[in-house]
Amino acid sequence: MGHSLRAAALLALVVLSVLVSLLITSLKQFGSGSTRFFNATDPEELRSGLDVQLRERRKEILPLLPPHDDDDDEKNGVLEDVQRSSDSVLDLSLWNEVMLGTGKAHRDQMGCESLVDVRAVEVLGSGYTKVVVKANVAGGQAVALKMVNEQGVDMRKCVKEFKDAQGCRELVSYKLQKEMLLLQRLRHPNVIKLKGHCSGVHGGGGGGGVERGRVAVILEQGTPLQMIQLLQTPWEDRFRVCLDLVRLLHFLSRSPLGSVGLLDFQPRQFITVSGQLKLTDLDDVSAGEIACWTDADCTLKFPHRNFTVPCSTRGVCDGLNEKRNIYNAYRFFFTYLLPHQAPPGLTHLVDHIMNTTGELKADINQTLEAFEQILLLYKSGLHLDNLHPSALRDYTVMRDMSPSGNGEYRCWPSYSQQGCVLSVHSAREAAYICNSHSQCNSFTLTGQKTWTGHHLASFRSSFGHLVPDSASEVYVKKSKVPQSPSS
Ligand SMILES: Nc1ncnc2c1ncn2[C@@H]1O[C@H](COP(=O)(O)OP(=O)(O)O)[C@@H](O)[C@H]1O
Ligand SMILES: *[C@@H]1O[C@H](CO)[C@@H](O)[C@H](O)[C@H]1NC(C)=O
Ligand SMILES: *[C@@H]1O[C@H](CO)[C@@H](O)[C@H](O)[C@H]1NC(C)=O
Ligand SMILES: *[C@@H]1O[C@H](CO)[C@@H](O)[C@H](O)[C@H]1NC(C)=O
Ligand SMILES: *[C@@H]1O[C@H](CO)[C@@H](O)[C@H](O)[C@H]1NC(C)=O
Ligand SMILES: [Mg+2]
Repeated sequence: MGHSLRAAALLALVVLSVLVSLLITSLKQFGSGSTRFFNATDPEELRSGLDVQLRERRKEILPLLPPHDDDDDEKNGVLEDVQRSSDSVLDLSLWNEVMLGTGKAHRDQMGCESLVDVRAVEVLGSGYTKVVVKANVAGGQAVALKMVNEQGVDMRKCVKEFKDAQGCRELVSYKLQKEMLLLQRLRHPNVIKLKGHCSGVHGGGGGGGVERGRVAVILEQGTPLQMIQLLQTPWEDRFRVCLDLVRLLHFLSRSPLGSVGLLDFQPRQFITVSGQLKLTDLDDVSAGEIACWTDADCTLKFPHRNFTVPCSTRGVCDGLNEKRNIYNAYRFFFTYLLPHQAPPGLTHLVDHIMNTTGELKADINQTLEAFEQILLLYKSGLHLDNLHPSALRDYTVMRDMSPSGNGEYRCWPSYSQQGCVLSVHSAREAAYICNSHSQCNSFTLTGQKTWTGHHLASFRSSFGHLVPDSASEVYVKKSKVPQSPSS
């Protein structure tokens, strides 16, 4: 009991400090949609209305609970009982065990104790349901804490309707708990990593626990995806985002939970961690294919296109989740990120992907294959085969040197703000680029590499002098050698 009180107090502390910082940002979100779907003033009627919703949310989560081990016969029995009678009573102690993380599956995860020394709380992002803050947990590790957004649309709507902040917090926190269960079941490099959680649901049985509904989910920390910013980055990085997305969708099409469709598919549901794309908002998914009677039940409606798949003899819309995901990837990501400035040798493959995803002519396997083929060609430089092989002959190379002093010029899209730094497969490609820039008289292959293994090359009009640098090579146009200082 002492432990649970301590944990609850800690959680309250985190929540409090977050609320302060939220006060400012949240005012903007104030009072959007206000559709009342429940009309009552009687407190008992209100409470039972809320209870109906709470039960529905629980029912939604039950299929996501991790399967128990075979040797755990007793618990298996309990779980089955719960599932059978899920409309009526729910075994709270089992529920709490799963949510509290006392079950076997979660013992190695971070819990409330890791939030003891939580520092430097700053908001990373927020949505209708949740708010995410930056935190450094014990040991200095940087994490993200996801909690119910007290000022979000979900909470406001609920409180307006049911006038019960505590009950509403519990209701909204089911979305967070659903997400947590999904994160446990859907582990993948392109899904945000769940590190643990601290839950305010305490004490088995009766439900007299303090802080019911308070949950903080501990996640790896990332950077919200900024589409506008991404549009200004080199093609290689934009391609990476799309490739990561396709790898994720490939996994989701045959996940441990069956075929998973993302219903709220928007760039803001993703973040990047060291340049790698990860899905973070998972509370709105459909796991398993949709049941149907006729083909008309299997229709995907988008603003400019409708698609229909056949209703199978098993009575499900086969492949509908996968198709929805692919089209949304095309609609929200590929159209913006992929074609623009694709390497000339790869445009026909990119165009092909744009067409097959935009028309839903390829399944996710074929789409992934097409992406991996582009990656392979790009990495190996095969798409550059038609570049004139003699470009390098015009340059003199000076190894283990790097230039310094003035002489940088800017280009776009450069990896560096000050100069012209581009990703190249080889010195030959760099020479070809240098020849196409009127200012360029030399380039340097720096020791730095991009995620594909390409070199970062720095292009210059001139340089003051050379300094020793074992990782780098300077190529100077022969007409300019010897390069004298100044000018
Ligand atoms: N691990 C994380 N690191 C950094 N930012 C995150 C992380 N997870 C989520 N965010 C940011 O927080 C926002 C809200 O999280 P999200 O789960 O999408 O909540 P909601 O369900 O309310 O939309 C996201 O849009 C994203 O910008
Ligand atoms: C809500 O209920 C009141 C009385 O019970 C009624 O007068 C009012 O029209 C109802 N409003 C809606 C939107 O149904
Ligand atoms: C999609 O279907 C809806 C109704 O089923 C229809 O109103 C709409 O015009 C269709 N849109 C397109 C682009 O075909
Ligand atoms: C795909 O290609 C066909 C034939 O060239 C064209 O009519 C169609 O508009 C293209 N679709 C997309 C989404 O690019
Ligand atoms: C897609 O690939 C997976 C293996 O990655 C395979 O099991 C599955 O059958 C393939 N699906 C189709 C439609 O070819
Ligand atoms: Mg979101």
